[in-house]
Amino acid sequence: MAQEYTNDAIQGLAKQFWEQGYLCIPHFFSQKVMQTCQSEIENHFGDSPTFLHDDNFISRSKTEVIPWFPQREGNSEFDVISNNSLLQALSEAILGEGWDEQYCMVMFSKAGTNGQAWHQDCPPEDPAQFNLNRLVYTMDVTPELGGEVFVRPGTHKQGPLTTGPLFEDFDDQVVLVPKAGTLVLLHGHCWHRIGEVKSGNRVSTNFRAAPKNVPDDITDICVYRNMRYQFSTSEVLESYS
Ligand SMILES: [Fe+2]
Repeated sequence: MAQEYTNDAIQGLAKQFWEQGYLCIPHFFSQKVMQTCQSEIENHFGDSPTFLHDDNFISRSKTEVIPWFPQREGNSEFDVISNNSLLQALSEAILGEGWDEQYCMVMFSKAGTNGQAWHQDCPPEDPAQFNLNRLVYTMDVTPELGGEVFVRPGTHKQGPLTTGPLFEDFDDQVVLVPKAGTLVLLHGHCWHRIGEVKSGNRVSTNFRAAPKNVPDDITDICVYRNMRYQFSTSEVLESYS
């Protein structure tokens, strides 16, 4: 169990994170906690949730995710995850003193949706300005379900992603298929995408964090291979195709 990690092990994981731009740790959370949170998520979304983003964004970014912020609504069932002492120790080892938890966002994708195109969560020009995705899986992702997490190791150190096909396959890509209880830590500048969601609804929950002195709206501008998009204004800032 993750709870048995020593301080040396945590420092080793942080080093590995900074080399790769991501970490994937199975069995980090108990199945009991995952089942409780998954029930809350299913109760909230029901069978036919609607999209928040406008059609122009969805068609250009190929991103079809419906967000929910349970803690902002006073739902305390997710606190056991954000308060997990090992998650906090690992976050501190990666982000340094004074790091900040930004929010908890459940991301729901319906069966038959595109997933997410390759992107960086925020502009990568300043290496000190980034978000850390702390992705918790309350249900199994499987090859049959789809919705796998694609990452390109090391790309958090390489500046802006290149233009090109939005769902291109790369020889160096890693495909994560996280089971319930898995923790995935992902640097916001590391290229990532989500595979097509095929046979059922998919959820993951992001306990997003950031180093000290990073503004809460760090992810307002997302970088895709075809554009930079500002969520607060629903505006395409730069277009590359
Ligand atoms: Fe992302």
